[in-house]
Amino acid sequence: MNNNFNKSLDTKKQNIIIDTANITKTYKIGDIEIKALRGINLKISEGEFVSIMGPSGSGKSTLMNIIGCLDIPTSGDYFLENIDVSKLNDNQLADIRNKKVGFVFQTFNLLARANAVHNIELPLIYSKDKIRNKDKNIRAAIKSVGLTGWEKHRPSELSGGERQRVAIARSLVNDPTIILADEPTGNLDSVTGEEIMAIFQKLNKKGKTILLITHELSVAQHTQRIIYLRDGIISNQEKIENPTDAEERLKQMPKLEDKMNSL
Ligand SMILES: Nc1ncnc2c1ncn2[C@@H]1O[C@H](COP(=O)(O)OP(=O)(O)OP(=O)(O)O)[C@@H](O)[C@H]1O
Ligand SMILES: [Mg+2]
Repeated sequence: MNNNFNKSLDTKKQNIIIDTANITKTYKIGDIEIKALRGINLKISEGEFVSIMGPSGSGKSTLMNIIGCLDIPTSGDYFLENIDVSKLNDNQLADIRNKKVGFVFQTFNLLARANAVHNIELPLIYSKDKIRNKDKNIRAAIKSVGLTGWEKHRPSELSGGERQRVAIARSLVNDPTIILADEPTGNLDSVTGEEIMAIFQKLNKKGKTILLITHELSVAQHTQRIIYLRDGIISNQEKIENPTDAEERLKQMPKLEDKMNSL
């Protein structure tokens, strides 16, 4: 572990919105205990774009589920915008999750029978608070992922990239504190994956905080910092001085029509 680097991260006095202190997670299956997380100390500042890498089973999704208030740690503290969420009950956790977290998954997790708009507005329906300007929020989310004109299409009538855009719009509609994405490009071809990274980079430039899990270094290099997990602990962190610019990369990549012509 590079201690100097960690010190320099700690002294960065920005608004810290994710702060975990020695988080552990142990799953019990019968008599067997699986120590999925063994002491995670992680701080994420407002406006950061961070990625998590690590082998299968290293605890990436477990950590993301805790950060996203889908689960609570076995021990340790977790502060999300200065609220200690590690001690909340299920209802309180669901409430915080709905207000503060947007999720994007590898398999999109859209409702098959609902069209794009209805999928995108789901978090607003579940939200207890009365949302003012609901339609405006939905339209803004659709526009920010470039899906204007596709509102009435169901998931089966959309490509993988378009489905993921719907999922990203859904994650944005409540104006969450942080967007959590678990392998969002894992099911997409390289050009479509790059388009999705361009959307995340655009959202980040507008100030969104994003935490993304990936198995691919080339994807992680689009973010500002890579956190490496191994056996439930942070084994290393790396600051990316010049993140890959997805818009620039897309200009160099073959268009689908070019690929078809060369067949
Ligand atoms: N609900 C659960 N019950 C029991 N064990 C679990 C549960 N969820 C995860 N685990 C175990 O915890 C460890 C960490 O799992 P996790 O899903 O966080 O890994 P990961 O890094 O996301 O892996 P992958 O890259 O394959 O998605 C693994 O050993 C896994 O089998
Ligand atoms: Mg996982």
